[in-house]
Order: sequence, then C-alpha cells, then structure tokens
Amino acid sequence: METPSLNRTYKKVVEEAQDFLPILGTDYVELIVGNAKQSAHYFKTAFGFQDLAFSGMETGRKDQVSYVLQQGKIRLVLTAPLSQDSHLWEHVRTHGDGVKVVALWVEDATKAFQETVARGAKPYLEPTVESDEFGRVVKSGIYTYGETVHLFIERHEYSGAFLPGFQPFNSGFSPSDTGLKFIDHMVGNVDWGQMNTWCTFYAEVMGFAQLISFDDKDISTDYTALMSKVMSNGSGFIKFPINEPAKGKKKSQIEEYIEYYGGPGVQHIAVATDNIVETVTALRSRGVQFLEVPDSYYEDLQHRVGQIDEEIEVLKSLRILVDRDDQGYLLQLFTKPVVDRPTIFIEIIQRKGATSFGKGNFKALFESIEREQELRGTL
Ligand code: FE2
Repeated sequence: METPSLNRTYKKVVEEAQDFLPILGTDYVELIVGNAKQSAHYFKTAFGFQDLAFSGMETGRKDQVSYVLQQGKIRLVLTAPLSQDSHLWEHVRTHGDGVKVVALWVEDATKAFQETVARGAKPYLEPTVESDEFGRVVKSGIYTYGETVHLFIERHEYSGAFLPGFQPFNSGFSPSDTGLKFIDHMVGNVDWGQMNTWCTFYAEVMGFAQLISFDDKDISTDYTALMSKVMSNGSGFIKFPINEPAKGKKKSQIEEYIEYYGGPGVQHIAVATDNIVETVTALRSRGVQFLEVPDSYYEDLQHRVGQIDEEIEVLKSLRILVDRDDQGYLLQLFTKPVVDRPTIFIEIIQRKGATSFGKGNFKALFESIEREQELRGTL
C-alpha cells in the first residue's frame, strides 16, 4: 500500500526539504563495538581508513573510548564502553558491534530538531552546544528505526579535528587508502510489515521522497526474499533504502539479521569508489572477504549489460557484479559481514551513470547469501 506522502513529486520534495531540513551531507557514522582499538585497526588495515581523532582516558573521558577514522569524505567513529557501568554495554550485548549513529551535517541543528520533532520524530538529544578552543558545534538528535539515531551536526563555527572533546590522533601506522570516496547509501533492515512505516517516517518527518521500490516479485521465490524501498533527501545526496523480510521458501536474510541484531538496524554501508577494479584488488589483498558468485554469472554478462569499459575477465577474476538501468551501469560487490554476527556488511559501488541499486544482481547475490546462511545453519 502506497501512502500519499511517498508519492510526492521529486520537485515538491526538493522544495519542502530545502525549506525545513536542508542536509549538507553525511557527517559521520558511529558504530558501538566491544573493542574499539581492534575495530579501528581492522578498518585501517583492511579498508585503508586513516587516523583522524581520538577520545578516551588520555583526553579525560573515563567511561568510553572513540577512534575516528577517515577516508575520502567518509568518517567512521568506533566507540566502546570502558567503565563497567557504561550504558553502551547494553547496546553491545543486544546488538553486537553495530551502527548506533548516522550523523547528518546541517546548517542549523536546532531548527533540524524542532522541525523533525514537530513532524513526529522521537527526540534523542535536545539541541546541545559543545565548544573548545577550536570553536563551537551544535548537536541534536532523533530516533529512527530500532535503537538507531540520526544526530544533526552544525559545525560552521568549528575548526577542530572532529568534535569538541576529541584530540587529533596519529598512531604512526597508516596503511594506504583503498580509493573509498564517500557514502553512496546506507540501508536499514526493519521488521515484518514495517517498511512502509519507516518510509513514511522519512517522507513526513524528514522530507525525503521515494526513489525506487522492489517487491518479492522482483526476486525468485526459490530464494530468500525481501521488499525494499529507497528514500532520498531533496539534494539526492542522502539515500536510505529500507528493507523488510518477505515470505520465501527459505528464511529471509532480513529475518536472520533482525534475529541476530536483536531488532531493526543498519544492514550495510555502501561506499563509492571511482575505480572499483583497483579498490577491490586492494581490499582482497588485505584480507577483506566478499560474497562470491559462480562462474556462470559471467557467461551471459556481456549480453545482459551491453558495452562496458571494463574487461569481463578482470571483473570475473575479482567477482565484481555489474547491472544496468536506463541511465547507465554500475559495478558493485558486497563483503561478508564485517562483525561476528551475521549483521552489518559493506558494499563497494562504482556508478557509471546508473542511479539504481543493482536489482539485476539480486538473484545471484541471494543465492550466494543463501549458501552462507546454510553454513551458519540459519536458513
Ligand atoms: Fe546497497
């Protein structure tokens, strides 16, 4: 069932969103983890993120520790509890390592809070000013699906490394980057029947519009099924696809996620590169593990996607996937989960005109995920 707010024209959404919630970009993504030092080392060594900032015992923060890493425009914050009574332990116990904060960069965090709360958002953080010798930042926040939150970050009067309370950090160990540029989209998994609820939230509370939807008919019923809608903000820079499980012959991968994450949450972060062959070559050499499709995927690839710049044999050797829409094509690849539980993973994507999300690869991918689920005994 479509709701009227999901069907508004893009132009109207752009106007409305510019009016009440202009978003300049993704500010950072914060994961709550059991061991931030080791997580940071993994994202540096495996993915090529660089040291940016630190907060912890050495900066006077006794209850929790955060490492801030950067690559291109992507800022990743890895935070772990230190003291025994930290409230973060409950997050780790329930969800394992997972995304808590999707922070959005705004002009006016006070207005962003007021406008979204007036439209029905559940408050998480009242507008709060933090300052140090590098200036001031205003933060506010609202809840989205599950325990995930959006923080609004206003930083035009701030010149420090990251945020007040953080110090610049340089461990002296900086593996080269892997060509990751920016976050293309971030996907949320929600529970049975909740996709439209959360798409309506993004439409009504945040002024987003629906770009695309997929339903279970897009996916062979032999495979684990899901439904998905893509919500985008007015500028088109922020894209949040929302998945819910659908009935298939096998247990949905979304259902497996919800079970192991202990509720709705961020399923994957898609990061853009402008040379996926080089990026994936580097990631594989550093031990990043990807979902694998069989040789047969490449047999009729040329026929399916037409003329592309890359050599099929090279794509095949790296197991890179290709899909085409009416505006161009895209290349993509998905890691296996990057944490212990079968929850969050990373997508590497290079767009060559295409604005879609790789629907043509769903079947091959779901067969691959199904093989992984079989090994985990969760199918
Ligand atoms: Fe994706």
